[in-house]
Amino acid sequence: MKKDILSETKEITNLVLEAKEKAYRETSFEPEPELTRKLKWPIECTVGPGLEGAIACESEIGYVNGSKGLLIYRGYDIFDLCAYSTFEEVSFLLLHGHLPTNNELKDYKNKLVRYRTLPETERLLMSFPVEEMSAMSSLRLGVNLMRQKQTYRDKKTAKSLSVPIAADEDSIPMETVPTGEKRPIYEFNKKLYRPPSNVDTDLLSAEDLESCYHLISGVACIAASIARLRTGHLPLENDLDLSHAANLLYMMTGRRPTPLEERIMDICLILHADHGMNASTFAAMVVASTLSDIYFSIGSGIAALNGPLHGGANEQVMRMLEEIGDVESVKPWFENAMISKKRIMGFGHRVYKAYDPRARVLGPLAKMLVKRNPEMKGLFYIANALEKEVISTLGKEKKIFPNVDFYSGIVYKAMEIDHDLFTPIFAVARVAGWTARILEYLKRNRIFRPRSIYVGPFNLEYIPIDKRDSH
Ligand code: CMC
Repeated sequence: MKKDILSETKEITNLVLEAKEKAYRETSFEPEPELTRKLKWPIECTVGPGLEGAIACESEIGYVNGSKGLLIYRGYDIFDLCAYSTFEEVSFLLLHGHLPTNNELKDYKNKLVRYRTLPETERLLMSFPVEEMSAMSSLRLGVNLMRQKQTYRDKKTAKSLSVPIAADEDSIPMETVPTGEKRPIYEFNKKLYRPPSNVDTDLLSAEDLESCYHLISGVACIAASIARLRTGHLPLENDLDLSHAANLLYMMTGRRPTPLEERIMDICLILHADHGMNASTFAAMVVASTLSDIYFSIGSGIAALNGPLHGGANEQVMRMLEEIGDVESVKPWFENAMISKKRIMGFGHRVYKAYDPRARVLGPLAKMLVKRNPEMKGLFYIANALEKEVISTLGKEKKIFPNVDFYSGIVYKAMEIDHDLFTPIFAVARVAGWTARILEYLKRNRIFRPRSIYVGPFNLEYIPIDKRDSH
C-alpha cells in the first residue's frame, strides 16, 4: 500500500519533470533584458489599451516570460517548485524572499494551522444566505468578515499619516487662488513614500505579515466552509495534522484526501500562487496603495478574480466542454465558434504568446486523474481535441494557446469538487501572491493613479429636464 502511494506521488513528480523537459526543449530560457533590470524612474514604455505593456512597479517576487512560456517565483522555476516543494514552502518563499529553513517552516506551518480556526468569522458568515449567494461573493464577504480586530491602520498613530497624493493632479491645494499650470506637473521624484517616523515600522510590518498569514490560512478555510454551506452542511472543524492542501480538500469534501489528491491539490495551489501584475493582483495592490488595509485589498483581489476573463474562466471551460458533449462535436462546435467570433474559454493570455507552463503541468495531471475516474474521460478527450483545433488555427495565427484555466477544472472535478468552487480555489492559492506583492509594494508605496484621456464633448448647454427631448 505504502509502496503504491510512493509510486503514485513519484509518478506525479516525473510528470512535472517531463513537462519541464518538454518546455525547455521547445523554448530556450533567456530573461528579457528590458523586463528584468532595475529601473530609473521615470521610464518610457509603450502602453496599449487595458494598460497593456505598462510597467507599474519593480518586483522581486515573480517573473513571467510570456514569449518563452516560463514562470519564475523569487528566482525558482515553477516546474521545480511543483516537482519538489509544497504550498507552505512556496507561500513562505513569496512572502519572505527565501526558501524556509526547517525551523522557519515549522514555525510558519504552526502559524497557518493556528489561523485555520476562525469561529467568529464562520459564525458571522453563517448569518448570511451563503447557499443563495455565488461562492465568490461569499468568499469576498468572508474575507471582509475576517477583519474583526483593529488593525494598525485604525490606531491613532496611523490616523496621523500624512500621505502625499503627489501624482493626483485633480487635487489642487486651495490656500492660494488656483490659477493652475498650463500642463499638469507630474512629480517624478525619486523620493518614494516612507511611513512617517512616528509610526513604528517594525511593528507595522510585523502586524502586516501576521495579517498575511491570517489571510493565507483564512481564505482557504472560508472557501471550504462555503463549499459546505452551499450544500446544506455545517462547516467542518479543520484537521490540525493535515497539510494546507489536504486540509482544504478535507474541509471542502468531508473526506480525507488520498496522498495522490493531496499532492495534486498542492501542485495546483503552487501553480496559481502568483502571476505578475494580473488583474486581481493589480486590483489588490491599487487598494493597498491608498493605505487602505490588507483585508480590503484582498477582497478587491477576489472581486477582480471572479470575472470570466480572469479566474472565472475555469468554470466557463467546464460548461463549454459539457456543452460540446462529445469528441465528434468538437470540430463543428469550434468552426461555429469561430464564425460567431466566440472566445474559447481557457485559451489566450495577455502575457503568454507561448504555451502556458501551468497548463503544461495541469494537462498531464488531468490525464492521470481521469485514468482513475472513467466518468471524466469524456471531458478530457473533448478538451484534448479542442486544444488541437485551437492550436492548429488560433495558435498559428494569433499565438493563442491553452492557459492555466483550461485543464484546472478537469483536475478539480476529478477530485469531486463542484464547478462553483474552482474560482475560490484559485483565490486560495493567489492570496499568497497578493499578500506578498502588497507587502513588497508598501515598502516603497506610491498611490496608483494613472490618467484617462477625455474624449467627450465640451461646452454643452444645460437644459432643464422638462425641456429635454426624449430619445
Ligand atoms: N478565443 C478566441 N480568440 C481569442 C481568445 C480566445 N480565448 N483570446 C484572445 N483571442 C483573440 C481576440 O479575439 C483578438 O483577436 P483580433 O486581434 O483578431 O481581434 C486577439 O486574440 C487578442 O485578444 P485580446 O482580447 O486583445 O487579448 P487580451 O490580452 O486583451 O485578452 C484574455 C486576454 C485572457 C482576456 C483573452 O485571451 C480571453 O478572453 N481568453 C478567454 C478567457 C480566459 O481563458 N481567461 C483566463 C486567462 S488565464 C488565467 C487568469 O488570468 O485568470
